[in-house]
Amino acid sequence: MQRMDKKKERKNGSRSAFAVMLGLIGMIKPLLGIMCVAILMGCAGNLAATFLTILGGYALLTVAGLYEGMELSVIFTLLIVFAVARGILRYAEQASNHYIAFKLLARIRHRVFAALRALAPAKLDGSRKGNLISIITSDIELLEVFYAHTISPIAIAVITSVIMTVFIGNLHPALGALALVFYVMVGLVIPVINGRRGSASGQEYRDSFGALNTCVLDNLYGLEEILQYGRQEKRMTQMAEQTSHLEQISGQLKRQETAQRVTTDGVILLAGVLMAAASSQLAAAGALTGAQALIAVIAMVSSFGPTAALSALSNNLHHTLASGNRVLDLLEEKPLVYDIDGKADACKGDIRCGNVNFAYHDKETEGQLGKDMQEKANMAESAGDAEILSDFSAQFAKNSIHGILGKSGCGKSTLLKLLMRFYETEHGEISYGGKEIGEINTTALRGNISYVTQETFLFHDTIENNLKVAKADATREELIAAAKKASIHDFIMTLPDGYETVIAELGTSISGGERQRLGIARAFLHDADYLFLDEPTSNIDSINEGMILRSLVREKEDKTILLVSHRKSTMGIADDVLAM
Ligand SMILES: Nc1ncnc2c1ncn2[C@@H]1O[C@H](COP(=O)(O)OP(=O)(O)O)[C@@H](O)[C@H]1O
Ligand SMILES: [Mg+2]
Repeated sequence: MQRMDKKKERKNGSRSAFAVMLGLIGMIKPLLGIMCVAILMGCAGNLAATFLTILGGYALLTVAGLYEGMELSVIFTLLIVFAVARGILRYAEQASNHYIAFKLLARIRHRVFAALRALAPAKLDGSRKGNLISIITSDIELLEVFYAHTISPIAIAVITSVIMTVFIGNLHPALGALALVFYVMVGLVIPVINGRRGSASGQEYRDSFGALNTCVLDNLYGLEEILQYGRQEKRMTQMAEQTSHLEQISGQLKRQETAQRVTTDGVILLAGVLMAAASSQLAAAGALTGAQALIAVIAMVSSFGPTAALSALSNNLHHTLASGNRVLDLLEEKPLVYDIDGKADACKGDIRCGNVNFAYHDKETEGQLGKDMQEKANMAESAGDAEILSDFSAQFAKNSIHGILGKSGCGKSTLLKLLMRFYETEHGEISYGGKEIGEINTTALRGNISYVTQETFLFHDTIENNLKVAKADATREELIAAAKKASIHDFIMTLPDGYETVIAELGTSISGGERQRLGIARAFLHDADYLFLDEPTSNIDSINEGMILRSLVREKEDKTILLVSHRKSTMGIADDVLAM
């Protein structure tokens, strides 16, 4: 039932603005005290500014002989006190807001990275890592605006408006009511209307900005293809179109902002005029003194600071809440596979797969983190869950090389990912030495496997450190031995700094085959009981492949090796071959 509700809610789109705010505020519980202090100081500062003007009014009235409530010297002392307090309070308010914001950003980053760690690798397996990067960088950064410049302005506007309503209402209840109406207009009605109108263009701006970014990156990465197929003109036109579209929307947003500022100023002016009219009417009727009428007008026009600030806020609020929504989505995303802990560490012996069924189910979120909920829901509906493995059974005996052969897309890589427990099977069992994979601690399991994926990732670091990823404390002798087995040592020695050469300096000049051989060297260095090789020699010439395969044969005495390939020639060294 709860699941269904959740689904329904997701179908209705993202959470409401209010829910996002509550969620974001929920993250700051430890800092709530400082936040209250910031709000109090903000209120005091803004009231000091307002009463500075009001006291000025009293000073003039006293000089004119229309007011006798306070000595002139008292008024001037108060003026100085308020002026100094105003500056100090403003500074203290900003300082505590930023303290909160940066403490919080650190906390949120921490939580986001923890969430990513739990989601990896199954939920991060897709191709749209760009979305994740934008959550980690710009979305979290934008939340600073929320914590430092959104929550407390709202609280301050509410509190100061209530106090000013009471102050003016004390002069005459009708004037208090009038003031309240205008505070609500400026602080709530105008921002909400503008927020509604501006949100579509705001979203459009963000989208086209993202599209332009992608286009520029594509042009950089795809430079060779563009040149080869003569697509320069076309790509240039496309980029120019996107740029002018962005400019158009940006202009539209600017015009909206100006219109909003003009409206706000107009309404504030109207408030002053109406307050003047109402208070002079009341004064004429004897319900107010002339001095009180004047003070009411001054109090009205000088107290819009906090509420007017809200109207500027609504322009960014939509972006901020959208960012907050994506961050909350990510934090609430459930991992597909939970690590097993506190069970057996041992995994040795034959691998057995019995009647395994598997489909990639979670297509709605596969690599789509941070996407709009509605979009996710739509995708989930259109995507069928094609079964990759159905009723798959196999046995891989220890101390031998098992070839796995099959055409592209038949599920060879998927099988290895299941054996690594990157995903869980739906039916059937996988066991190591008779122990169910669900009974083996996940860290121990993966530590006992050397897994060479289809794409070796190299860090921007030296070759030595890139190899040591597989074994942090490896000696130089061990590195060389592993590199020799992977037939990459000779290549490394031709590089200017040998093992100290930084990969980033080589850039793309390192070939696919060299990259693959570094990946294989890592696996040899890791020296685990199980060695899973996913098309390890697909980019490697036959001479080097021969050398690597011979190394594998020498290793098989105390290892279980699974060798995936779609090439029959590679299978020559295998003790048995499974056709998938
Ligand atoms: N993370 C994933 N999410 C959804 N579908 C996937 C994912 N990875 C692979 N697939 C699909 O599963 C099928 C088998 O993929 P794979 O095991 O990589 O094949 P092989 O390694 O045999 O070429 C393919 O149709 C592929 O598109
Ligand atoms: Mg594959």
